[in-house]
Amino acid sequence: MIGCSGFLIRNGFLRCAGQLFTVPEVMNIPRHIAIIMDGNGRWAEQRRLPRIFGHQQGVESVRRVVRECLALGVSHLTLYAFSSENWGRPADEVAALMELLARFLAQELDSLMREEIRLRVIGDITLLPSAVRRILDQTIQRSSGNGRLVLTLALSYGARDEILRAVRRLVHQAVEGSLTLDEIDETHFAANLDTAGLPDPDLLIRTSGEMRVSNFLLWQLAYAEFFFSEVLWPDFSAEELRKAIEDFGARQRRFGLTARQDSAET
Ligand code: FPP
Repeated sequence: MIGCSGFLIRNGFLRCAGQLFTVPEVMNIPRHIAIIMDGNGRWAEQRRLPRIFGHQQGVESVRRVVRECLALGVSHLTLYAFSSENWGRPADEVAALMELLARFLAQELDSLMREEIRLRVIGDITLLPSAVRRILDQTIQRSSGNGRLVLTLALSYGARDEILRAVRRLVHQAVEGSLTLDEIDETHFAANLDTAGLPDPDLLIRTSGEMRVSNFLLWQLAYAEFFFSEVLWPDFSAEELRKAIEDFGARQRRFGLTARQDSAET
C-alpha cells in the first residue's frame, strides 16, 4: 500500500474523494508532473493541415492528461502552454492560440469545478490580451477553493524572465529595508517565484522527441526526473502518460546523496 498526496492506493485501486479508480498497477505516483507539450505543428504538417489544427488537437490531449492525472491521484500538473519566446511566432498563430486558450477556459469552467481542479497561472500575464486575462482571472478566482488537482498553465512564461522578476522583488524588499541579505536563502527565493507555494516537479515530460528544457522551470526542475517521449503532443495518450509514470517509478531519486544513504533514509 502506498500513501500518495492524501490518496490511498491499494490492490491496484486508488480511492479518491470517496470513489474507487482502477490503477494499472500500484505505482509510485509523482506528486507534480510538468509537461512541455511539443509537436503540434509537426502533427499538422504531417497531415498537410494548417498548424492551428495541431494546436486544436493538442487541447484534446490536455483534456486526456488532466483526466488521467485525476484518475491516478497526481495532485499537481503544470503545462507549458505558451512561452515568452512564442510571442515571436506569426501573428495569426499567436491570435489563434490565444483564442483556443480563451475557449478552453470558458468550456472547462464547469468541469474544473465539478472535478475540484484549481487553476493557476505562471508567467508574465500582463502581456496577454485583455479578454484572455479576464477569463483567466475569473477562472483562477472561481476555482481557488478547489484542492484535488492544481492545474498550472505556463503562459507568456520564460524561466529566466521569472527568475529576473524574483530578483527584482528581492532587491526591492532589500532596498526598502524589509529584507536583509542573510534572509535570502533558497526558501525565500522560491517564495518570490511565480510558482510560490507549489512543490517542485518530480517528473518532467517533453513530447515529440526533442530533448531540451527550453527555458521552462529552470529553478524548480533541479531534482526532477526527465522523460522524453517520441510521441507528438496531439497523439499523447493516457497510456503514454502511464508509461512515463511507470518509468519514473523505477528510478532511484537520490537528491545528491549516495545510493546507500538514500536507502537508509527510506
Ligand atoms: C508546441 O508545439 C506547442 C505550443 C507552442 C502550444 C501548446 C498549446 C496547446 C497544446 C493548446 C492550448 C493549450 C491549452 C492549455 C488550452 P509546436 O507548435 O512548437 O510544434 P512543432 O515543434 O512541431 O512546430
